[in-house]
Amino acid sequence: MKSRQFFCFFIAVLAGSFFCGCGPDASILQKLAAQQSQIDSLRQKLDQIKPGLGEIMAVIQTHHAKLWFAGINENWKLADFEVKEIKEMVDMAENIETGRPETKFISMINPPLDTIASAIQKNNTVEFKHGFSLLTAACNNCHKDNNFEFNVITIPVNQPVTNQDFRSQP
Ligand code: HEC
Repeated sequence: MKSRQFFCFFIAVLAGSFFCGCGPDASILQKLAAQQSQIDSLRQKLDQIKPGLGEIMAVIQTHHAKLWFAGINENWKLADFEVKEIKEMVDMAENIETGRPETKFISMINPPLDTIASAIQKNNTVEFKHGFSLLTAACNNCHKDNNFEFNVITIPVNQPVTNQDFRSQP
């Protein structure tokens, strides 16, 4: 008897929510719609504040220059650090610049970065300089492949900043 009563109650609730359209389903849908519009506006805000590819490149450019002075001064710990900073920026570009078609080419700088990393491990300046030339060529090849051939990267002549000592510390 009890279960029959429960069954009738259940049917009544179900019918009620079905006919008046104001049952639990409707409120869940409303909540979902509100959450979706919140997600949309957050996504819009993220797009507005995330660094663009050009900004990421400007950071890579600084690390590229610092890497050179660290390497030629045989400050291998700093050189290792700069390689990792470039790799982090490359990862960042791959993660957040998915809307830019050029991003899929960015991994072309990984092989020269690996050559440099191995030279750093061996404390080998000749190999480091060779790797650095390959890296700089990869920067320019990607720029050429993506109609940014006017943006030419070179081996730096002067230190990028005057408030950092690139020499190896005792
Ligand atoms: C995807 C391949 C790719 C690789 C690899 C690459 N770049 Fe770029 N780079 C670009 C693109 C695309 C732009 C234009 C970005 C924009 O539209 O703002 C750019 C722009 C730049 C800029 C212009 C930013 C400015 O304000 O002057 C610099 C500097 C730069 N890259 C340096 C480098 C350096 C240094 C390397 C190598 C360590 C490198 N890039 C490797 C694609 C690449």
